[in-house]
Amino acid sequence: MDEKEQLKPKLSKESLSEALSIFKFVAPYKWRLIVGLFLLFISSVVFLSFFTIFKWMINTADGAENPLGFSLPQFGMLMVGILIFQGVVSYLRVILFAYASEKSTADLRKALYSKIISLPIYFFETNKSGELVSRLTSDIDRVYSTFSITLAEIIRQLIILVGSVMLLYITSPKLTFIMLATFPVVVVVALFFGKYIRGLSKQRQKVIADTNSLLSESIQTIRAVKTFTNEIFERDKYKASNDKIVDVAMNFAKFRALFTVFIVTILFGALCYIIWQSAMMVQTNKIESGDLLAFISYTALIGGAIASLGNFYADLISTLGATERIREVLDMESEVDLSKADSPTFNRFQGNIEFNKISFTYPSRPDVQVLKEINLKIQSGQKVALVGTSGAGKSTIMQLLLRFYDYQKGNILVDGKPIEDYPISEYRGNMAIVPQEVILLGDTIYNNILYGKPNARKEEIIEAAKQSNSWEFISSFPDGLETLIGERGVKLSGGQRQRIAIARAILRNPSILLLDEATSALDAESEKVVQEALNNLMKDRTSIIIAHRLATVKDVDCIYVLENGKIIEQGTHLELSAKENGAYHHLAKLQFEMAE
Ligand SMILES: Nc1ncnc2c1ncn2[C@@H]1O[C@H](COP(=O)(O)OP(=O)(O)OP(=O)(O)O)[C@@H](O)[C@H]1O
Ligand SMILES: [Mg+2]
Repeated sequence: MDEKEQLKPKLSKESLSEALSIFKFVAPYKWRLIVGLFLLFISSVVFLSFFTIFKWMINTADGAENPLGFSLPQFGMLMVGILIFQGVVSYLRVILFAYASEKSTADLRKALYSKIISLPIYFFETNKSGELVSRLTSDIDRVYSTFSITLAEIIRQLIILVGSVMLLYITSPKLTFIMLATFPVVVVVALFFGKYIRGLSKQRQKVIADTNSLLSESIQTIRAVKTFTNEIFERDKYKASNDKIVDVAMNFAKFRALFTVFIVTILFGALCYIIWQSAMMVQTNKIESGDLLAFISYTALIGGAIASLGNFYADLISTLGATERIREVLDMESEVDLSKADSPTFNRFQGNIEFNKISFTYPSRPDVQVLKEINLKIQSGQKVALVGTSGAGKSTIMQLLLRFYDYQKGNILVDGKPIEDYPISEYRGNMAIVPQEVILLGDTIYNNILYGKPNARKEEIIEAAKQSNSWEFISSFPDGLETLIGERGVKLSGGQRQRIAIARAILRNPSILLLDEATSALDAESEKVVQEALNNLMKDRTSIIIAHRLATVKDVDCIYVLENGKIIEQGTHLELSAKENGAYHHLAKLQFEMAE
């Protein structure tokens, strides 16, 4: 798959307003933010006023008048007072901003999680989990730091900039104009660099995400890494990926460095000129030495403000990139509406299933047709089996029935109604599957069984464990049901995992039961016992069974034989066995001979 195609659909031309819509997450906390901004304004103005006080103090020491008529000790008292006030204001401001940014980022994270978890399977096939997690966490971090620091700093620096310019203007309009003349140059250059910085920052986030996905992938498949002694191979892969990060990051750094050098040179040049001019003014007694100090301070403040605004501008730009990616995900269409998926009292299906001429290709592999005009008709309460060679499309049929994918042609009816017409939660709530590859939660056995029916009582869980023939091994563990089974269930054997999955299905009590090689990992004896449990479970409900071992499906109502995505034979075991040249006959004969 093309990596650039991931996280579709792409946002159209970087539409700023779209990216800014991320701010709706701040809206609920806007009053705190507004008060915080007001306090920020006050503390910035107070900060500026210090330099005027310095000016007055030095002029007073030189024997000149000051507008307040204060003596030096009085100035000392004034400054202590202002410092205390400043402290209180800053404290409140930081707390208010922190509250707004923490809360809104948490809301954003929750919204994103809800979205991701309700996206269709297809999304997860085209996006690697490690990369997705890395992207979203680092993108959210970016947004968070913007909400919590960058925005406040930008506003503070803007206030300082405007204030300093005004105060400078009062003392010397001419020098102020020199200072201001550098502005347009800086802005034009900032826009120019901004474009590159934005692209490079996106690129950097992407290679970091790739690297993280390598890390999480090899941890997830650590057993494979070790059995194939591929540690060195994996290390080199990771190394190469890291080197790429450095390359891209250095490119990024070079642009930032150039940008900084440029700004500093322009600004520092202006600064030097202004100080030189004002030194001459002191010499000719046009201004007091306190005024000189004020000049230098305000000019330095202006320079500092512009330089840091440049930096924050770059930050802001890369945040826009991050919000675009977050929006891309938030704007995707979910298959489940989490806001109203809370009603467990859905209608129970009777369990009539009909596939009419279903043709299907996986969206991630559009050129391979996996199912070709499949017709199935299953009456309520019937059991049917799908058999056939590996890769024939058996599991795919179950996935379509579970609505994991949209098929291209034909239709599937359940109880006479197209399956798309049911609300998805109600629809899937009527089904249970024991999948080919059981994946369990890294939690206790108890919680894993509970997953089949989150409101089940403990007795029901024990009953399900007994029926699935798991109770024996569960009670042999010292912690019983509370035994932790490791990430994805690695601390259980394959057969034990399968029995836990069966217990889940039993607990769920579905109207349609799907068994995909549900007993393949069991030894003959356990299989017999579990098969009995499954037979009980299948009683009076529609069941579809996939099996390679034909002995397990001998008694079903109808067997469909698949080959290359087509149904090539159908009938009962007896009917199909009787067909001398039939595929089923051939399969049965092979298995029969092997058993002998
Ligand atoms: N998620 C997927 N994306 C793309 N192709 C897939 C996907 N899952 C399966 N396929 C392809 O679809 C075909 C049918 O796969 P399916 O899993 O339905 O086979 P199966 O009959 O269940 O085989 P087995 O008996 O080995 O489990 C295979 O060729 C497989 O490569
Ligand atoms: Mg399969």
